[in-house]
Amino acid sequence: MHRALLPGLASMILLAGPATAADAPPGASSCSGCHAPKAVADTVIPHIVGRKAADIVTFMREYRSGAWPSSVMGRIAKGFDDQQTEAIAAWFAAQPE
Ligand code: HEC
Repeated sequence: MHRALLPGLASMILLAGPATAADAPPGASSCSGCHAPKAVADTVIPHIVGRKAADIVTFMREYRSGAWPSSVMGRIAKGFDDQQTEAIAAWFAAQPE
């Protein structure tokens, strides 16, 4: 996909209302494997589905910078830039827990 299309795509996702799995931004499905909705799995991994987007973005930034200790999230967060992280966070925030 051409980079110039990404901002438009992100606002389309935000305007589209309740998102479905089909609308998931790039990378979001890789999070779901560990961060399942509460209704699907009760795991030791913290739930991020339905959390505030701003909180998810903050966690990802801190993990990426190494400010907060983590086992796996530091490495994972480094794979996403701010724009990608914001799109993923907005999507998770819109999902039913
Ligand atoms: C391999 C499993 C795995 C994957 C994949 C994964 N996470 Fe995590 N996540 C964890 C674990 C485990 C923690 C607890 C911190 C740690 O030990 O790294 C965590 C913590 C978090 C937290 C902090 C939640 C809290 O309340 O403490 C956020 C936000 C988060 N992950 C977002 C994401 C996003 C967004 C993605 C996809 C880009 C993702 N994670 C992919 C395992 C995973």
